[in-house]
This record gives sequence, C-alpha cells and structure tokens, in this order.
Amino acid sequence: MLSSQQRAIIKATVPLLETGGEALTRHFYAMMLEEYPEVRPLFNQAHQASGAQQRALANAVLMYARHIDRLEALGPLVSQIVNKHVALQILPEHYPIVGSCLLRAIREVLGAEIATDEVIQAWGVAYGQLADILIGAEESTYKEHEQAPGGWRGSRDFRVVAKTPESEEITSFVLAPVDGDAVLLQQPGQYIGLRMVIDGQEQRRNYSLSAQGNGRQYRISVKREAEGKVSNYLHDHIQVGDTLELFPPAGDFVLRPSSKPLALITAGVGITPALAMLEAARDSGRPIHFIHYARHGGVHAFKQWIEAQSHDYPQISYRFCYSAPRDGDQPHAQGVVSREQLAEWLPENRDLDAYFLGPKPFMAQVKRHLQELGVPGEQCRYEFFGPASQLDA
Ligand SMILES: Cc1cc2nc3c(=O)[nH]c(=O)nc-3n(C[C@H](O)[C@H](O)[C@H](O)COP(=O)(O)OP(=O)(O)OC[C@H]3O[C@@H](n4cnc5c(N)ncnc54)[C@H](O)[C@@H]3O)c2cc1C
Ligand code: HEM
Repeated sequence: MLSSQQRAIIKATVPLLETGGEALTRHFYAMMLEEYPEVRPLFNQAHQASGAQQRALANAVLMYARHIDRLEALGPLVSQIVNKHVALQILPEHYPIVGSCLLRAIREVLGAEIATDEVIQAWGVAYGQLADILIGAEESTYKEHEQAPGGWRGSRDFRVVAKTPESEEITSFVLAPVDGDAVLLQQPGQYIGLRMVIDGQEQRRNYSLSAQGNGRQYRISVKREAEGKVSNYLHDHIQVGDTLELFPPAGDFVLRPSSKPLALITAGVGITPALAMLEAARDSGRPIHFIHYARHGGVHAFKQWIEAQSHDYPQISYRFCYSAPRDGDQPHAQGVVSREQLAEWLPENRDLDAYFLGPKPFMAQVKRHLQELGVPGEQCRYEFFGPASQLDA
C-alpha cells in the first residue's frame, strides 16, 4: 500500500513526467529490449521506431500519477491496456522486468538528486499497485476466454482454409482450428493476436476479424505494408493448408447494442472491423450508413460485397470517396473527408452511433467533423491499428 507521503511524492512527479515522460520511456524501452531479449518479440519494432509505443506508455504512467488518489477514474484506460496486453499474451512474469527497468530509467533520466531513494521507493510501490490491477484484470480475461464455449488460453493452431485477394493491397485469410473444435464467438469489432516466426525471429501482431463470428472459423484481411515483416510474409508465403498460431479475440472497439442509426466511417484497411459490424447490425433493421475512403478503385477492398449488402438490405446506404481516382473509377465523391460531405451523407438527425477507423490524420478529421455536426461525443467510437494516442486534428 502507498503511504500518504508516497502518494505526495508520486503527485509531485507529475510535472517532471509531463515534460520528460517520453524521454524516460524511450530510455526505458532501449534498456529493456537490450537486456531482456525474452520480451523483444512482444513489442512491434515499427511502433518503437515511430515513438508511438513510448508515447502510449508515457501517457498511461502520467494518467496513473495524476489519478493516484482516484484509480477508478482510470477505468477506460485500464480496459484499453488490458485488451491490448491480452491480445499479445502479456503474462504476470513480464511485469517485474518492466518494473525494474522503469525504476532504473527514472533514476538514470532524472538523476540521483531528484530521483532519491525515497522517490524510487514510492514509484516501486506505485508500479506494483498498477501492475497488480493490470495482472488481475488480464487474468480475469484469460480465464473468461478459456472457459467460454470454443475458448482457449494462450496460442492455438489454425489452418488457412481460404486465401482471397480483396484488392491490390488487401488479402483475406479464413482460419479454422486444426483441432476441429468450435471457436470463441467474438464481438463485432474485436481483433486476434497472431504469433509467427519469420527468419528465426518471433513476431506478434493484431488483426481485426473482418467477418461476423460463426463459432467455427475466423477471417482476417491484411494489407501489404511496404517493408512490413508480417503482412508481406502472409501475402507471399502463407497459403491454404498452412498453420498459424492465434491468441483469442480481444478488444473493446465493439458494436454496442442500440437502435439508433449507425455510421461506419473508414479509410483503407480500417474497413476490416466495420465489415463485421455491418454484418452484425444488418438484421436489426436500423439504418446503416457505410462510408469508405480509398485512394482509387484498385485498392478499394470489399466494394462488390458492400454493394450487394446495400442492394439486399435497403436500410444500408453506401458511399465511397477516392483521393486519387484512376481512369474509369466512379466514386460518389473525390478528395478527402470533409465536414460538408459527412453532413450530406449522414442522416439529418445527428443522434446516431458512429464508429470510425483509418490513418490517424483521417480519424482526427472525422472526430472533429462529427463533433461539429453535433454527433454526441459518447456515441463516437474509434480504434487504432497501432498504439493508442491523442486524436487532435
Ligand atoms: C487492434 C489492431 C487491429 C489491426 N487490424 C488490422 C487489420 O485488420 N488489417 C491489417 O492489415 N492490419 C491491421 N493491424 C495492423 C497490424 O497489426 C500490423 O501492424 C500491420 O500488418 C503491419 O505489420 P508488418 O509486420 O507487416 O509491418 P512492420 O514490420 O510492423 O512494419 C510496419 C511499417 O513500419 C516500418 N518499420 C518496421 N520496422 C521499422 C524500424 N525498426 N524502423 C523504422 N521503420 C520500421 C516498415 O517499413 C513498415 O512500413 C491492426 C493493428 C491493431 C493494433
Ligand atoms: C504497469 C505496467 C504497464 C503499463 C502502464 C502499460 C501500458 C501500456 C499502454 C498504455 C499500452 C498501449 C495501449 C494501446 O495501444 O492501446 C501498452 C501496450 C503494450 N504493452 Fe504494456 N503496460 C504495462 C506493462 C507491460 C508489460 C509487463 C509488458 C510486457 C513485457 C507490456 C507489453 C506491452 C506490449 C507488447 C504492448 C503493445 C505494443 C505495441 O503496440 O507495439 N506492457 N502497454
């Protein structure tokens, strides 16, 4: 338990973290990944290189220090971290590694004069308290996954039963468990964890499930990233009949029960969770506005499928916009997302539920436009295909 004096020390550290938090976590990661090769495969190197992962952790530590007297205010942040950790199979034995590196980094970055033994001790207790919250919540989720029908703990082998190109860049893989048993029924919007060994190096990635759950198999749809390790390997080397290791579905970007009109607004490969949401919502009869942005027709995945959906279900309206159309493309609009365009494509009554996903600048724009159009903030939900961050336009 933190003493009141230790709480005061933690709170006094907030201004230091506000200015130096990112430098601290950068140093912390470099040290941890160098000294503890066993945790390296857990972390995506591209997220480290961009600084996004460091910022996400710095932000979490800062929020924690700010709310040290009211940890319940951390609720949504804890759930987001737990989901990400669970989908990558972070385990209790990993926490002491992070803890000891974090404390060493605090001492080395702030210097022994500021980071006195007392400060380090207070942070040690505080870290232990936060670690216990996360470990407890993660274990509950692992147990839930294990005990649910079709569920499992850790990794499970899946066979690729179909591989389908969806555009010049996106390919779908349908995955059925090798053991032939049922699979956990995911919520629309959730993602799985994938573990692969490429050139002797273990890699872990998340992929959204791009079709509604059926209890028998999953579908993921993967965009080929320039120089991306896992996406290129999947595209080039994984064929029908090959085996992949999956962790159970997780994630809190899920379709909530509601009868309000639904807006699914996506760009590029951000379309994947929206496909599962569309399928899950289409029988409810609620109006669905599916709005998609792509560069041009060649990279526009699932176009025919959504057109067929909007043909078969009259309550689904479909609009798409291309930023760089090719000859022959016939989008509903050209350019990038704008407030005027969303105002026209969304229903006049802005009491709707909006889910959006795409590159970060796109999401920042959509968030701002929805706010300006009067869609209630708590009805706007989004996900990141990487470490979470602030969405300011
Ligand atoms: C919740 C969630 C859901 C997701 N759903 C999907 C989905 O449905 N479909 C999908 O396609 N993706 C999805 N992603 C993204 C996916 O997890 C991978 O990040 C993506 O496939 C890229 O992985 P990669 O191994 O191919 O690329 P990486 O090897 O991770 O590289 C990504 C980019 O960073 C660059 N890079 C790599 N290493 C470095 C380095 N050391 N220094 C500088 N640059 C570097 C690469 O050149 C490349 O451009 C999702 C991510 C999350 C978090
Ligand atoms: C108190 C301790 C911890 C805190 C506060 C914390 C916080 C976070 C945060 C904020 C994120 C980003 C979440 C998001 O993107 O939505 C994250 C992701 C992650 N965490 Fe932790 N974490 C902790 C412990 C650990 C431990 C012990 C490990 C394993 C060694 C770990 C591994 C990861 C990984 C692999 C990711 C995803 C990284 C990526 O996207 O590349 N974390 N964590």
